[in-house]
Amino acid sequence: MNNTSKRWIFDSVVWSASLLFLFGLLLDNALADSKGFTASNNTWKAECASCHMAYPPNLLPAPAWRRLMAGLDKHFGTDASIDARSAAEIGAFLENNSGQGKRRGSDSGTLRITETPWFQRKHDEVPASTWKNPRVQTAANCSACHAGAERGDFDEHAVRIPR
Ligand code: HEC
Ligand code: HEC
Repeated sequence: MNNTSKRWIFDSVVWSASLLFLFGLLLDNALADSKGFTASNNTWKAECASCHMAYPPNLLPAPAWRRLMAGLDKHFGTDASIDARSAAEIGAFLENNSGQGKRRGSDSGTLRITETPWFQRKHDEVPASTWKNPRVQTAANCSACHAGAERGDFDEHAVRIPR
């Protein structure tokens, strides 16, 4: 075998290995996403799904959940306080399954999922008028467009924007 073909084989092997590695990373991210969307806890379901849907824990980073759980008595203009035991259990559940990585793991200081940079980037093609549509009302009303939101399904292929 001459040096050129040895080189070619070496290059191919290196490229294939890198591609496999990248693919693995992407798959890993996708799986981590869907797992975080479907994580569940009974106390959380009971206490955090009465006024709005129970927002999946991986939509906010751990520090944001910690601040949110510490201020339930002043929760976006309402009193959502609960007993200390439930709060501790829910807080631990949210933090253990919180957003990870560069996107959802970074704390931008807001308690609103809808104000995080990743949310705004993912939704930058939604026209301003859509958010004000009476069938949407607020960006926090995920199920208006993501029919499977309650099941943790935010797949972009299943999005239906109300007209
Ligand atoms: C008494 C009603 C009530 C309960 C109970 C409640 N919330 Fe809320 N929550 C609200 C209201 C009202 C808003 C603001 C909605 C809006 O502005 O569109 C809100 C907003 C949120 C948001 C921000 C959504 C966004 O991105 O704009 C998060 C996160 C949240 N709640 C988490 C929780 C968690 C976790 C619990 C359980 C510990 C909980 N909520 C229990 C009333 C409640
Ligand atoms: C007005 C309709 C609407 C509302 C309300 C809405 N979304 Fe979306 N969402 C979209 C659209 C449109 C996309 C982009 C689909 C695409 O890129 O093709 C999207 C994309 C996403 C994605 C990325 C999906 C993927 O496969 O990459 C996530 C995650 C997501 N939304 C979560 C949420 C959450 C959480 C809420 C509520 C706090 C919410 N959305 C509220 C319309 C909406």
